[in-house]
Amino acid sequence: MTLNNRKIIITGGATREWIDPVRYISNASSGKMGIALADAAFQRSRQTVFIHGQIENELIRNKQYRTILIETTLALMDAVLSELAPGTIVIMAAAPVDFKPRAFSAVKIKKEDSSEEINLSLIKNPDILKKISMQRIENNSLNNIYITGFAAETNNLEQNALQKLEKKGIDMICLNDVSKSDSGFNSDNNKITVYTKSGGKTELPLMSKHEAAGRILDLIEIDLEKI
Ligand code: PMT
Repeated sequence: MTLNNRKIIITGGATREWIDPVRYISNASSGKMGIALADAAFQRSRQTVFIHGQIENELIRNKQYRTILIETTLALMDAVLSELAPGTIVIMAAAPVDFKPRAFSAVKIKKEDSSEEINLSLIKNPDILKKISMQRIENNSLNNIYITGFAAETNNLEQNALQKLEKKGIDMICLNDVSKSDSGFNSDNNKITVYTKSGGKTELPLMSKHEAAGRILDLIEIDLEKI
């Protein structure tokens, strides 16, 4: 089954969780992996939508596919869930911030001269992939969506990736070792190992993110043939 007539949702970049009007929590995702996937997806399906955090204008300029800019992890989740349609392929390359401040301070937090320490209380954001896979179970019309995640790992690579594949209830996970400087965050290249729920393992060598994106979509097409 090809991806020709399928809706494809790609997410990319980092979310932001504001602490006060001038400070936020985020991470180093540049959005390059997401853009590479959206570019490759659009070559296969005009029904591609790219949902992303703040990304350098240069990287996102002149794209022909639909793009949706979001800021927080909750906004990313809402955007993805509202775009879900029967048969959708979802690829979550975004790096959503896992925790957000318990309370947003409407005024800039002042540095207390008397204290060397400031305590920030954080609460967990929802797991978007888990929500998507729950929707697949609960909503009959979404029972044929296909869900791919990424695993950004620094240690126990395979074990952690396989755990995420299972816990999140998804079909495929793309493991990248983000402790390496020549791949992962912000690099133009990536070294990915793809695992599928059906037990497949494909180790891709270091290659450009654009090349890797094409290979991931090929592997999704192959896996869809088996379902
Ligand atoms: O943007 P680049 O600079 O090109 O870098 C690319 C990348 C390293 C960010 C990308 O390849 C990548 O690994 N993206 C996933 C980053 C991440 O959040 O990994 P994780 O192991 O913490 O999360 C596992 C999966 O759950 C991911 O698909 C993530 O999108 C998803 N997730 C995470 C948190 C959350 N609250 N909900 C989620 O669904």
